[in-house]
Amino acid sequence: MSLKIVVAVILSVEYVYGKASIPEDGRLDFKGLATKYGLKCEEHEVVTEDGYILTMFQVPGDKTRPVLLLHGIIDTGDAYMIRGNASLVVALVKNGYDVWIGNVRGTEYSRRHKQFNPDIHMEYWNFSFHEIGLWDVSAKIDYILNKTGQTQISCIGHSQGTSAFFVLNSIRPEYNEKIKLLVALAPIAFLHYLTASPVKEAIMAWPYIYKLLKTYRKEEILGKNTLERYIFEIVCSHENAYKWCVKGLLMSVNGYDLQELEPEFWYSLVGHYPAGTSIKCFSHYQQIWTKKKFCQFDYNKDMNLAIYNSSVPPEYDLSKVTTRVALVTGANDLMAPLKGVKRLKRHLPNLVEFIVLNRETANHIDFLWGKHTNKYLFPHITNLLQKYT
Ligand SMILES: *[C@@H]1O[C@H](CO)[C@@H](O)[C@H](O)[C@H]1NC(C)=O
Ligand SMILES: *[C@@H]1O[C@H](CO)[C@@H](O)[C@H](O)[C@H]1NC(C)=O
Ligand SMILES: *[C@@H]1O[C@H](CO)[C@@H](O)[C@H](O)[C@H]1NC(C)=O
Ligand SMILES: *[C@@H]1O[C@H](CO)[C@@H](O)[C@H](O)[C@H]1NC(C)=O
Repeated sequence: MSLKIVVAVILSVEYVYGKASIPEDGRLDFKGLATKYGLKCEEHEVVTEDGYILTMFQVPGDKTRPVLLLHGIIDTGDAYMIRGNASLVVALVKNGYDVWIGNVRGTEYSRRHKQFNPDIHMEYWNFSFHEIGLWDVSAKIDYILNKTGQTQISCIGHSQGTSAFFVLNSIRPEYNEKIKLLVALAPIAFLHYLTASPVKEAIMAWPYIYKLLKTYRKEEILGKNTLERYIFEIVCSHENAYKWCVKGLLMSVNGYDLQELEPEFWYSLVGHYPAGTSIKCFSHYQQIWTKKKFCQFDYNKDMNLAIYNSSVPPEYDLSKVTTRVALVTGANDLMAPLKGVKRLKRHLPNLVEFIVLNRETANHIDFLWGKHTNKYLFPHITNLLQKYT
């Protein structure tokens, strides 16, 4: 904590002289945002088979048409609400859907466990998108089915959210029957097509970064009370932050589309993003990038043998993802480039649609935060839901 104080002192000078004002939407949590934009919001506690306690939000609608939204890495369910009246939650509710918003383990809303204390027990952070898929997503689906009395729900995932669905449906194929349609936004299974420059370098340097973090017994990254999140918030809420954090960082890793993320909105966003996850999550992505395969976590030879009965981790069998899948992709997405999504497309046995957004500059984050998603994305989503559910 003393390091935190030192950094705070150093950065506070600049902070005091250049802090931009954070709008109300940057300070409200999910429920606060939902209420502000006229929605009814209920909170549900979901306990997973491996003991994680998750918070799921519901904006109630027609009980026969439940839709589950799952966010990406270092993000939370806020992603689907933060555009206020122009957000996906509002669009779905207007169309009568019963909207359920997930928050995965490790995020501020779901940072609890029956036995482990995330601040003390390293075991808590022993997860990647693998466990998120196997245990979080399955628990959420079963919970919604139970509450609505339905036999199937529709699902929408973004980025890591899609990886988690593919994991679940390939390893526990019985879940295919519980999903009417999976709308996969900026989907990720094959990562090695990624062209996002600073991210590529970070992936290559990751084994060293990982070692360093492990030395300091650091398992959580970017969580609300971590040093790195604290620094990020100070730097990226500065009046120059749009130049540094958006033009300099966010757009260069996700693809340039400045029109869709205006400065005023950035100052709301920085109150919600990034959110916490485990370093194992990054490690798993680093591995599938290096191996050029969508496969399970690589521990080491002995552990792999004990866990998988194989010295190398098995690939996820995408041919078992038999639920209907619609892939929706952006031509300027540097995290999940078209080439990788096309490869994924060839592996999915029940692909119903492959949609490239009609916006040349559509990047990885427009799917969540774009200013005009009402025009180029939501009509696709509502059409897909209408057509296939
Ligand atoms: C959101 O839209 C509704 C109606 O469409 C409007 O009444 C309300 O004022 C808007 N809320 C905000 C905060 O802009
Ligand atoms: C992490 O989880 C894996 C797989 O569930 C398990 O084999 C391993 O022992 C765990 N590691 C730690 C440090 O708890
Ligand atoms: C939901 O779960 C409860 C308790 O686990 C059970 O009693 C109930 O029958 C379930 N309802 C449905 C519709 O499956
Ligand atoms: C482990 O793999 C070997 C060889 O691939 C196979 O013969 C054996 O039956 C497997 N053991 C288990 C427990 O699945």
